[in-house]
Amino acid sequence: MRSHWTNRWMFMMATAGSAVGLGNIWKFPYMTGTNGGSAFVLVYLLCVAMIGLPLMMTEIMLGRRAQRNPVAGMAWLAAESGGSAWWKTLGFMGIATGVLILSFYSVVAGWVLEYGSRAVQGGFIGLTVEQAKHQFADFVSNPLALLFWHSLFIVMTVVVVARGVTSGLERANKIMMPTLAAMLLILFGYSLAIGDMSQSLTFMFSADFSKITPSAVLAAMGHAFFTLSLGMGAVMAYGSYLQRHVSIARASFYVVLADTAIALIAGMTIFAIVFANQMEPAAGPGLLFQTLPVAFGQMPGGTLFATVFFVLVCFAAWTSSISLVEPAVSWLNENLSMPRTRATAVVGGVAWLLGVVALLSFNEWSDVTLFGLGAFDVLDKLTTNILLPLGGLLMAVFAIWVMRETHVQEELGLNNRHYRNWRWVTRYIVPTAITLVFLNLMGWLPFV
Ligand code: TRP
Repeated sequence: MRSHWTNRWMFMMATAGSAVGLGNIWKFPYMTGTNGGSAFVLVYLLCVAMIGLPLMMTEIMLGRRAQRNPVAGMAWLAAESGGSAWWKTLGFMGIATGVLILSFYSVVAGWVLEYGSRAVQGGFIGLTVEQAKHQFADFVSNPLALLFWHSLFIVMTVVVVARGVTSGLERANKIMMPTLAAMLLILFGYSLAIGDMSQSLTFMFSADFSKITPSAVLAAMGHAFFTLSLGMGAVMAYGSYLQRHVSIARASFYVVLADTAIALIAGMTIFAIVFANQMEPAAGPGLLFQTLPVAFGQMPGGTLFATVFFVLVCFAAWTSSISLVEPAVSWLNENLSMPRTRATAVVGGVAWLLGVVALLSFNEWSDVTLFGLGAFDVLDKLTTNILLPLGGLLMAVFAIWVMRETHVQEELGLNNRHYRNWRWVTRYIVPTAITLVFLNLMGWLPFV
């Protein structure tokens, strides 16, 4: 017997825990900044609603029907409908994608740990904008410091995953998720008081279509996948531990809503601080680490708030990273009979090694590039912009053209009208949108 979530709340919390992570708090704000603001936000919201939500339902549906890890699950689902055994390749692609993502994700989670330790020591008190910028630059140019925190985060991930779904993953999520939401609201409130919220809102929401470029559209679409944990089987793996009677549509809706709300709140908060202090919105991956410490440094009780905040961001990253390795671990465990502990250590080890390459691209190996990108950026772009959307596209194709419709309908359990809507969007909008964005980026289409 495979283990299952205790109840539907646990599933929702775990899936929301996977979705809400560095993608919301670190990546969304910095990408909004580097991609010019509102146009990026608008395309991202469109992608979340039109691609993310239906695919979230699709991926949970695939996992729950299969009741197996993504590799065995895809093979089983294909066999059930008379499809090709090759579909299990999609499961393998997801496993690889998860490990690639974890490698650079863990590096950034390591930054969060470092900033948490600075916060406890009162390191942000009276920090100026210039100092914050230099401190971040100094920090990432030190490979040993990055290595230490990256290694610690991988160990943290391995420890939780090794304990298995119900005792490891559930317990972690139950406590951390609600606290993070509360903390973020407090910070948002503070940024209303000290920040420039009106300029922040203008930057994020006043549609400025002159900023839409093909690469911004691709980045927004890729980010919709990344932030919702879609396209690599993480959600499929979580769905495979879900009991039959739970409504997939409702769970998907709440997860997508929570994820989007948290990203928008994080973005509004950070840009309010950016504009109040004449900082650079396009600062890149360092944005979170160069802005919030300045605000914490001026805030009464800032040391305490900063500590709690970075600890919570670390938790958010932790509940996400565990989902990145779950497909690989459950495959090694169920198909190759490897004990869960060893499977987790193996997967963690591979991600750790790749992460070392990623972190060296900020310092020692900063001149080693591929297509003009360092290792960290290659790992990020390759997974976020290519592998995840490709995985999502194939899942949609599988659900519509390979699976028997009666099975899909039975598993989704929607009323007729909602089912038709899901099917139509998954059949026409999802594959078309992803393909167009890909083709456009390759320069085969003259759009935008
Ligand atoms: N969604 C997480 C975040 O926003 C990252 C993540 C966890 C992820 N699992 C994933 C991304 C699976 C893609 C696929 O931080």
